[in-house]
Amino acid sequence: MNRQNEYLNEAQIKKLQAIFIDWYQKNRRNLPWRQTQDPYFIWISEIMLQQTRVDTVIDYFYRFTAKYPTIASLAQSDEQELLKVWEGLGYYSRARNLKKAAQQIMTEFDGVFPTDIAAIGSLKGIGPYTAGAIASIAFQKAEPAIDGNAMRVVSRLYGIDADIAKPASRKIFDQVLRRLIPLSAPGDFNQALMDLGSGICTPKNPDCESCPLKNFCFAYQTGQQEKYPVKTKAAKPKDVYYFATAITNANGEYLLTQRADEGLLAKMWTFPLIEVSRESFEFAQKNFGKQADVLDLFSVAEDVPLPELLSKDVVWQKRHLGEIKHIFSHLKWHVLLFYGVKQADFLLPSKSQFVAIKEFDHYVFPKPQQKLVELLEKRKQ
Ligand code: ADE
Repeated sequence: MNRQNEYLNEAQIKKLQAIFIDWYQKNRRNLPWRQTQDPYFIWISEIMLQQTRVDTVIDYFYRFTAKYPTIASLAQSDEQELLKVWEGLGYYSRARNLKKAAQQIMTEFDGVFPTDIAAIGSLKGIGPYTAGAIASIAFQKAEPAIDGNAMRVVSRLYGIDADIAKPASRKIFDQVLRRLIPLSAPGDFNQALMDLGSGICTPKNPDCESCPLKNFCFAYQTGQQEKYPVKTKAAKPKDVYYFATAITNANGEYLLTQRADEGLLAKMWTFPLIEVSRESFEFAQKNFGKQADVLDLFSVAEDVPLPELLSKDVVWQKRHLGEIKHIFSHLKWHVLLFYGVKQADFLLPSKSQFVAIKEFDHYVFPKPQQKLVELLEKRKQ
């Protein structure tokens, strides 16, 4: 049932607002982007927080804003340097879009962060949630910021059983939140929802006894916290299998290759990766070490078109170094790392080079590559 119109009357809403804002002022988390009204810093924090936990974001936020203290400095940033500052946060299109949006602000808005919600939403990488968060926190506009947290809290508060995984449900939450947001403190209200959602009104075992809204909460009053929010399961990430090849030369350098200019992990650097079938991957897990040579293994895995460069002139060690896994939003990578020593010169493919481990810091590595390097350093002896 959706009770968004009749559940709380105006007087109850006024009371709820006063209690909630008071709770926030006493309990708010002390976060670096809460010490400022500057829309630039608030924007950076909101983009980082889109897919990353607060604890992780804090250090990145300090480093990013120290390196790029202004919109103009971000607009002029070098892309590889920018990605380097973002390294490890994931979802790298966020960083690329930040730069594009900074350029947009310079050219379309005279270098001044726009205050109008539609203008904010026109910036690259800013969707309705982020536009609402920035407009309310930086400019005190009564705009909702609707993400999974906000929908969970509101679905329990009002007993709304619309499926929060469906985009169409959003407008129900938008209606309710527009009624609930106090004109006097919209930024505090939205951030109170974020804090309540992350600390108290959690997906599992919400701490209802500590909740400032429990006397207003439909789910709590009726003992149905576990029923809300209604959410259909997201599709499982698709499994993808790779052999990663750590090839070292006589100087102890390793071959790195740069990914394509577009697509997942665009322009980032990894050991050469060969996509294989699940069968080949499992065969390699079981049999490598028993096989005479990694080349036998590659040839047994008949679907593996071994790139020239890997088959020739590399002496593979008779074991793989281990396995790493990494989950992207829609893909799960399974990677087996092989270790080989280059014997003779071979023609490097374009965008590949041998690099000393101590120089790795100058290359932008996605998370799975960071895990592979750790594995290499632990296991290669
Ligand atoms: N998550 C998203 N935005 C946030 C903010 N401003 N404070 C805390 N958590 C958040």
